[in-house]
Amino acid sequence: MSNSRRDFIRRSGLAGMGVAGAWMSIYAGTPGELEHIEEGAEYVPLQTFNMSGYAAPKLEVVRVGIAGIGNRGFDAVVRMNKIQGVEIKGLCDLRAERVKLAGDLVTASGHRPELYHTSPEAWKTMCARKDIDLIYILTPWALHTPMALFSMNHNKHVCVEVPAGKTLQELWSLVETSEKTRKHCMMAENCCYDFFELTTLNMVRQGFFGEIIHCEGSYIHSLTELLFAKDRFYQMWELNETASRKGNLYPTHGLGPLCQVMNINRGDKMDYLVSMSSNDFTLGNEVKALAAKDGFYTSYAGRSFNGNMNTSTIRTSKGKTIMVQYDISSPRPYSRIQLVSGTKATALKYPEPARIARGHEWLGEEAIKELQEKYTPEIVKKIGKAAKQVGGHGGMDFIMDWRTIDCLRNGLPLDQDVYDAALWSSVSPLSAWSVANRSNSITVPDFTRGAWKKNAQVDISMSKGGTTGVK
Ligand SMILES: NC(=O)c1ccc[n+]([C@@H]2O[C@H](COP(=O)([O-])OP(=O)(O)OC[C@H]3O[C@@H](n4cnc5c(N)ncnc54)[C@H](O)[C@@H]3O)[C@@H](O)[C@H]2O)c1
Repeated sequence: MSNSRRDFIRRSGLAGMGVAGAWMSIYAGTPGELEHIEEGAEYVPLQTFNMSGYAAPKLEVVRVGIAGIGNRGFDAVVRMNKIQGVEIKGLCDLRAERVKLAGDLVTASGHRPELYHTSPEAWKTMCARKDIDLIYILTPWALHTPMALFSMNHNKHVCVEVPAGKTLQELWSLVETSEKTRKHCMMAENCCYDFFELTTLNMVRQGFFGEIIHCEGSYIHSLTELLFAKDRFYQMWELNETASRKGNLYPTHGLGPLCQVMNINRGDKMDYLVSMSSNDFTLGNEVKALAAKDGFYTSYAGRSFNGNMNTSTIRTSKGKTIMVQYDISSPRPYSRIQLVSGTKATALKYPEPARIARGHEWLGEEAIKELQEKYTPEIVKKIGKAAKQVGGHGGMDFIMDWRTIDCLRNGLPLDQDVYDAALWSSVSPLSAWSVANRSNSITVPDFTRGAWKKNAQVDISMSKGGTTGVK
């Protein structure tokens, strides 16, 4: 091990929780991945620079390259095409027809993008270009971290779809690289920009809920039909993920807004996590039924799928609690829960319509409407109407992209930094470890390495910026 490696602070948090060897469990069978991780000890690099609150030099025009133009990627192209001060310089996908489709759209608006599609590594040529400022990554999960690292190391800011990485090692490498290069690595957690979530955050900031005690979130979205569709996801990558790990594979939609509400990484931090999964009662049966009719599915028939419902609970260092659930395979109505419970009031978004209670009573429709008007945050006043017109999950996707570009153009910190990306994504490998170990608790890494005590809250006041227009 090199001297610099020896200089890393190593905390035996995992061992201290009685879970020595946790790293080995998480990475079992792939010793190469353990390059810089000591058995039973958490790998914690020194913080070389604090990216929380970091403002990169202003960019009058943000030159963008987009990697992965599938379902989600094409929508991102549509949104970026609507934001002033964006120049789309590169579009990349393995599939030529996807790149061409996006290329035609943006060319009609005056962009002149290079198209990259000739090999699985064509994205490297785009991400290495000197005339691009921001790479937006919307590929299957396995490519998120490799593309983000390569891009930061080639002097680019990064927006990466959720989750930012799949393993703790990947997440630490994002943190280290963002600090080393001083490039933003923002995970595009769009749910932080949904209307009710933004209003709730504003109400929290103004003391409406008192002290926050407990929050609940989830990703409950019945996707079974899409998972088994042959042509919905590129090479059925999401089904393959579901057949390769057990735990909460997609925690960030439920968690992101709640972490902002609870000032996680900015005044409080996650301390430890406990996770429990049910068995799978639907996917295995579904695949057997499909295989009986169509030989294509035979190879999936013997596989063991992720359990239907995962429930993870997290205790924070200040003694607050979070519950986050994941279920994409039960026939249930959609829910991200979004419960915020404080000493004075409660908010609950799902099932919709959203409700707010003061004390023991849920408020009536009129009173909720009045509160929502009173506490509408500046960002919604500024861009909410245009966002609803452009669309993208009701407008939240556009608010996110507009805000990100506006921050880069005004030299402002981004709302989500690399520590948020790493922490929110880390619930996935941590839950997998806990599920595999009879729901024992596991210490959540402090990606900020103590800086959480002083890091500033996310600024939703829009006291600066807001100068970017919509086409
Ligand atoms: N935030 C949200 O609300 C939200 C919603 C949907 C999807 N997502 C995320 O977006 C990402 C993409 O999901 P999707 O539904 O669009 O999947 P998809 O399968 O439709 O798209 C993935 C694209 O990546 C391309 N690709 C694969 N390998 C590549 C390579 N080597 N180089 C270039 N391109 C490559 C594929 O050809 C495909 O077009 C995932 O990370 C997913 O989790 C987020």
